Amino acid sequence: MRKMIKEFNEWVSTNLDSQKGKTVIITGANSGIGFYTALGLAKLGANVIVAGRNKERIDEAIQAIKKENISGTVSASILDLASLNSVREFANEFNNTQTKLDILINNAGVMMPPESKTEEGFELQFGVNFLGHFLLTNLLNNKLDLTQNSRVVTLSSIAHRGASIDFGNLRVEKPYDAKREYYQSKLADLIFALELGRRYEANNNHILSVACHPGFTKTELQRHIDPKILKKMNFMDTWKGSLPTLLAATNKKAKTGDYYGPDGEGEYSGFPALGLIDKSALDQEVAKKLWEVGIMNTKWD
Ligand SMILES: NC(=O)c1ccc[n+]([C@@H]2O[C@H](COP(=O)([O-])OP(=O)(O)OC[C@H]3O[C@@H](n4cnc5c(N)ncnc54)[C@H](OP(=O)(O)O)[C@@H]3O)[C@@H](O)[C@H]2O)c1
Repeated sequence: MRKMIKEFNEWVSTNLDSQKGKTVIITGANSGIGFYTALGLAKLGANVIVAGRNKERIDEAIQAIKKENISGTVSASILDLASLNSVREFANEFNNTQTKLDILINNAGVMMPPESKTEEGFELQFGVNFLGHFLLTNLLNNKLDLTQNSRVVTLSSIAHRGASIDFGNLRVEKPYDAKREYYQSKLADLIFALELGRRYEANNNHILSVACHPGFTKTELQRHIDPKILKKMNFMDTWKGSLPTLLAATNKKAKTGDYYGPDGEGEYSGFPALGLIDKSALDQEVAKKLWEVGIMNTKWD
């Protein structure tokens, strides 16, 4: 852990600009990629809100980050993306107490759990990975709009490649397929990031929408995968998986529609660079339909 932190610190301080005074929300930042993203941004001087569903786990993460000689601040806030009421409560609290939002990072995710649903009856991965973040982003939009040079960063995955959105199977109407449903949710995340950007641009809005993915990174995301299968896979260290997110969140040259990932073969590992977006994420008809599904089911617009 110490060695990793040393390498991580060196990369962050060498490659990223100061984020002094910026207000950042990171969902699911008590572990994995979100944890290192929070640590990196706090080191760069940001005031980071670690948003997660489990108070104890968030507090532990915050204590660990505070031990690392940060120049910004970290604080906790409860957000359960499997409950749209929880998303509304979180956003209300934030909007009523904070004056600005520089960076929103839609990071939290769940992968291939046993069949389960959100409070509103959506398949869990679609609900948490996409729908909760869709509502969250839209509820925080005014604050982002009021903040100069603000941006939204959304985590997708290599898994978006070749996936599709089955609009007739968002509530487990068909026999559950954990892998297919995960791939669908990460494609939905990338479609969302790109459509959000197009909508900002169409309205001459200054907010950037940038996407990223961490290749194959060892985290708790793999908690539902057979350990025998995991042993055969090559994962990057967790800190390294956070670098595409950190670059997407801070790069002054980033543009709406950019998608960062590791630069190695197949984008499985490496240091961050612009990645390839599969054509499945570029279908604007599907994007419009997904947006309508989002609006209809979150009762936001
Ligand atoms: N690791 C990879 O190789 C990989 C590859 C492609 C994409 N990604 C994406 O990277 C992102 C971060 O994942 P990770 O790899 O860092 O996994 P992780 O260590 O499991 O982190 C996921 C985070 O999401 C939180 N979360 C899960 N369900 C939630 C809910 N209902 N409400 C709020 N927070 C919730 C988890 O909280 P708890 O601790 O309470 O469970 C955890 O903090 C995800 O979007 C994932 O899809 C990861």
